[in-house]
Amino acid sequence: MSRPVLWITRKLSDATEQRAARDYEVILNPEDRVYQADEIVAMSAKVDAILPCHSEVFSKDVAGRLSDRVRIIANHSVGVDHCDLPALQARGIVVTNTPDVLSDATAEIALLLMLGAARRASEGDRLVREGRWVSWSPSFMVGRQTTGKKLGIVGMGRVGLAVRRIVSGLGMEVHYSNRRRLPPETEQGAVYHDSVDDLLGAVDVVSLNCPSTPDTLNLMDARRIGLMRPGAILVNTARGNLIDEAALAEALRTRHLFAAGLDVFKTEPSGNAELALLDNVFVLPHIGSATRETRDAMGFRALDNLDAFFAGREPRDRLV
Ligand code: DGY
Repeated sequence: MSRPVLWITRKLSDATEQRAARDYEVILNPEDRVYQADEIVAMSAKVDAILPCHSEVFSKDVAGRLSDRVRIIANHSVGVDHCDLPALQARGIVVTNTPDVLSDATAEIALLLMLGAARRASEGDRLVREGRWVSWSPSFMVGRQTTGKKLGIVGMGRVGLAVRRIVSGLGMEVHYSNRRRLPPETEQGAVYHDSVDDLLGAVDVVSLNCPSTPDTLNLMDARRIGLMRPGAILVNTARGNLIDEAALAEALRTRHLFAAGLDVFKTEPSGNAELALLDNVFVLPHIGSATRETRDAMGFRALDNLDAFFAGREPRDRLV
């Protein structure tokens, strides 16, 4: 029996590509270039399955133009805001994602961003590298301590829970908001707030860990940023469109917020030029899940979903 043709849209880990080549007729992208809408549509005529990243956008328009040959899109990401799920479902295309396996790596980056923002890591790094570190005094580069402070997690799903686990050594009092309150055994003493508004004024650091959906677009707008405590810190490892970046820049300029730690931006790649000018922003280029272990695990999880589908079983991470 002929093997399904699988298009892997980006350069994935060697272990993932080797396993895929063992089980599928694979089309790889060794140059790792990003395919645009018309190219995705053209490629779809040649393949039974697509294994994309969040960099390939399956909008309503693209979904409507994909070839009938494509039966499954097995994403190499937990976030699926690049996929118009109802439009893909209407085409009868199965869509999966890769939850669980990137939670710890993303939580590590949330911790790095929180500490980097609180302890002025970008400023300090630049000072030393640029040869501008010429004196030391007790009033030099004074930041904020996070030990014993209050952390507010917006979205206590898999990543939110991993953030809570990873900060436990800092003795932070954890608060959270979530669509549903968690059962006590999962909540483990974290303080529940039934609205984001209510959470924001109660904590010193806010970590965004909710998915990007039409409901969370610009969740952190000027009004909600204004609800944060003066001198608070905002951390985002989820998606850039959760934040009104102009409003955030203003709150950082006026020092209403002490700092922000951001791994994701509205415009990627590149980030936000206005935010990049500010000293009190610690930025990274969307690398929450970028560890060797997690890249392998994401690739394998996507392949597990494909294997199940082509074996006639329900893929574990089926979304539609
Ligand atoms: C995810 O899995 O959603 C990460 O942001 C990488 O795409």
